[in-house]
Amino acid sequence: VSQLLKIGIAGLGSVGIATISCLQRQQEMLTARAGKRLELVAVSARDRERARGVDLSAYRWYDDPVALAQAEDLDVIIELIGGAEGKARATVTAALQRGTAVVTANKALLASHGLALAALTEQRQTPLLFEAAVAAGVPVIKTLREALTASRILSLRGIINGTCNDILSRMAVADCDFSAALHAAQAAGFAEADATQDIDGHDAAQKLSLLAMIAFGRKIDPAQIDRHGIRNLSRHDVIQAKRDGKIIRLVAAAQLKSDGVPQLRVAPEWLLPQDPLAQLQGPMNGLVIETELAGSLTLSGLGAGGDATATAVIADLVDLARNRHNLPFGMPVANLH
Ligand SMILES: NC(=O)c1ccc[n+]([C@@H]2O[C@H](COP(=O)([O-])OP(=O)(O)OC[C@H]3O[C@@H](n4cnc5c(N)ncnc54)[C@H](OP(=O)(O)O)[C@@H]3O)[C@@H](O)[C@H]2O)c1
Repeated sequence: VSQLLKIGIAGLGSVGIATISCLQRQQEMLTARAGKRLELVAVSARDRERARGVDLSAYRWYDDPVALAQAEDLDVIIELIGGAEGKARATVTAALQRGTAVVTANKALLASHGLALAALTEQRQTPLLFEAAVAAGVPVIKTLREALTASRILSLRGIINGTCNDILSRMAVADCDFSAALHAAQAAGFAEADATQDIDGHDAAQKLSLLAMIAFGRKIDPAQIDRHGIRNLSRHDVIQAKRDGKIIRLVAAAQLKSDGVPQLRVAPEWLLPQDPLAQLQGPMNGLVIETELAGSLTLSGLGAGGDATATAVIADLVDLARNRHNLPFGMPVANLH
């Protein structure tokens, strides 16, 4: 058995660079925990000349991430490009087809093509891990898929979009309107220049679909989720909520109905202050899981940012090194309803 896990990283943005920096700084501790040296061998992004704040000179460079995915000497590629189609999809597919394990943080890709990719992982017997795709540093996928596998899940309620949570927190604290809060969130690095995917609830719906597939063992199309964003919330709504002793948050929820089909919804909710989700400020994420056998569990933590997301990416690498991995949705695709 090799004492190295040879890694390629495609995408050197916030998460890619935080992952490299963490691998470089914590080599010794990670080797002890993984039982193998996590050895970064090759990287890929669009612009080779861009200064990225970490030393990349020791790694082989690829202009094309698909060529990286086809390299013969890699055990795993980490896809951190983003997007449901294009290079991200081609890179993940090429790696799995070759039999190279994949770690990704790409919820858009998994929400659109997760079933096909899961089928490919079964066919090629090649792992696909994606803890970082939902709630960044908060281990929601591992908890649902591994820790709670003995119990039926009755419901999920979560704050799983850090951008919306940051905007709503700012509207309440700074007493400003939606567009001022959006601009402030963009300036602070908590919202992208084009925040449509976040503020209209698409991102939360994609993540909810992944959680619900694992929790309920069902195939879920995020486009079918009842979805309402936050762009129409006004300063007046927030002030009125405060007067009523409530806190507005974008909540993603899934509830098992008596016919076994989960009802899914992403929408702003007016929460009581004692609700665990109401206490999450800024880019924090959280999930309340109601189970049949183990009561109610609440997880919360930093749901965005390079370091928090890199934490989940590297946890997946250590699982691979230890040969601990599961099917993407916790059961074969053929068993999903
Ligand atoms: N940021 C977060 O807090 C966070 C949290 C959880 C999950 N995620 C997910 O993590 C992934 C990466 O996010 P990020 O924030 O790190 O993104 P980012 O900062 O925008 O970085 C994207 C990287 O991908 C590269 N890239 C884009 N198109 C490419 C192409 N066609 N060929 C080769 N490389 C290409 C870019 O190259 P250049 O640098 O050369 O332009 C860049 O290095 C996404 O799936 C995102 O949803 C992010």
